Amino acid sequence: MSLDMKTGGFNKKSLTLMILIALCLWCSRFETCQAREGKYWTQSEAGPATSALVKKENGYGGNDGRRLSKFMGDMWNGEAQATQQYGKPSSFNVLDYGAKGDGHTDDTKAFEAAWTAACKVARSKILVPAGSVFFVGPLDGTILAPVSSKIWGSGLLQWIEFKELNGFTIQGKGTIDGRGSVWWNDLPSYGSEWESEVGNQLDGKMPSTKPTALRFYGSTGVTVTGITIQNSPQTHLKFDSCTGVQVSDFTTSSPGNSPNTDGIHLQNSQNVLIYSSDLACGDDCISIQTGCSNVFIHNVNCGPGHGISIGGLGKDNTKACVSNVTVRDVSMHNTLTGVRIKTWQGGSGSVQGITFSNVQVSGVGTPIMIDQFYCDGSKCKNDSSAVALTGINYLGIKGTYTEKPIHFACSDSMPCVGVSLSTIELTASEEDSPPLCWNAYGTVKTTTLPPVDCLRTGKSRYPTEC
Ligand SMILES: *[C@@H]1O[C@H](CO)[C@@H](O)[C@H](O)[C@H]1NC(C)=O
Ligand SMILES: *[C@@H]1O[C@H](CO)[C@@H](O)[C@H](O)[C@H]1NC(C)=O
Repeated sequence: MSLDMKTGGFNKKSLTLMILIALCLWCSRFETCQAREGKYWTQSEAGPATSALVKKENGYGGNDGRRLSKFMGDMWNGEAQATQQYGKPSSFNVLDYGAKGDGHTDDTKAFEAAWTAACKVARSKILVPAGSVFFVGPLDGTILAPVSSKIWGSGLLQWIEFKELNGFTIQGKGTIDGRGSVWWNDLPSYGSEWESEVGNQLDGKMPSTKPTALRFYGSTGVTVTGITIQNSPQTHLKFDSCTGVQVSDFTTSSPGNSPNTDGIHLQNSQNVLIYSSDLACGDDCISIQTGCSNVFIHNVNCGPGHGISIGGLGKDNTKACVSNVTVRDVSMHNTLTGVRIKTWQGGSGSVQGITFSNVQVSGVGTPIMIDQFYCDGSKCKNDSSAVALTGINYLGIKGTYTEKPIHFACSDSMPCVGVSLSTIELTASEEDSPPLCWNAYGTVKTTTLPPVDCLRTGKSRYPTEC
């Protein structure tokens, strides 16, 4: 398998490509891991490696040392249990290992050398400075996450992170395996039987902070294509504060009962295109959070999982803004919900201009859902303010459900407005259940199955804060 990475494009300020080699943590314990977990080990003889094509262009000013060190500080804060206590993690600059970065020389050997050196040290990272063009790869291997609680220390928010990049592509057929079962199963509810069963493999409890497998932050023009991310401890692929994101031919694979393992998580990101992807996970296949707009999702298979969701928005009285999201030509199998918008009571802001079209469902709990009383199990207070929902369109939602075909539970003080339904054909796998509407205003444009006569009329738009 190979994982190719390349970056390109134009950037205004100096760029720093940081490959957070927390992923290297595992290889610092190479022998131990191999001895103990041989059955999971798919490492080639060439040693721990990922195949990478790293190419950077148009940066100027080279390495921004100040920002680098700040970033490193950010990343490693609060990890008192680090092998190198309170020290910065060791970093390995590819230039120090002979990389030329001239855009012509094959820098594979240098990257390999940096990788190998980094892998001898716990909590290390590899630096790829800006202002150069590197050609690297291919190497063989699957990237495996460490499964030892000692290596993870007090936990990380993300395992592999790319930050503040402009024009960056990860492509290839590689697999990033988070080996999350040690995290998912590390729950008190499994009791002593479970612990004794796996106790030998683990150094102890995993940290309570579960990492996202791959995260992009503050980047422009990011493409992820071809790769598979499986068994993440938490979210598989996350984009936060990114503009111009493209994800295609992407696969996530983790069990339906793995907790909080969103497939793709979007936050504060605009101009996002996700297509031709297969997402199986234990939480939302795609989760769209506040600050997202101009999101287009098509030709995605989802299941197992919780469906494609906007929200939960407005938690802890926050303001949330999501607009212009289109989800079309998707199929869902055995998911908890299909297309869903969920908001907490007490929030503000709005969700507007949302279209769900040509969604094929089979054995989906509730295919169409708006829940403005979302509460994740902890006690939630009633509150009159709410994130306003305006212009939510459903066209061609067809297939079978297991719980309820349609569930519109809108806020008492901020009813949903402009909900439209056309060509809905939802049949029960087992028992029929009627659609539910609460404070939902809108129109039914065609006959629907089951008939929906609970939408109210008379309210149209009201001003929203976004
Ligand atoms: C909505 O988003 C799409 C991309 O999905 C974009 O092409 C379109 O211009 C956006 N519309 C508006 C009004 O911004
Ligand atoms: C919240 O409101 C619902 C319905 O309006 C009511 O049934 C419930 O008891 C209320 N909960 C609290 C904590 O006030």
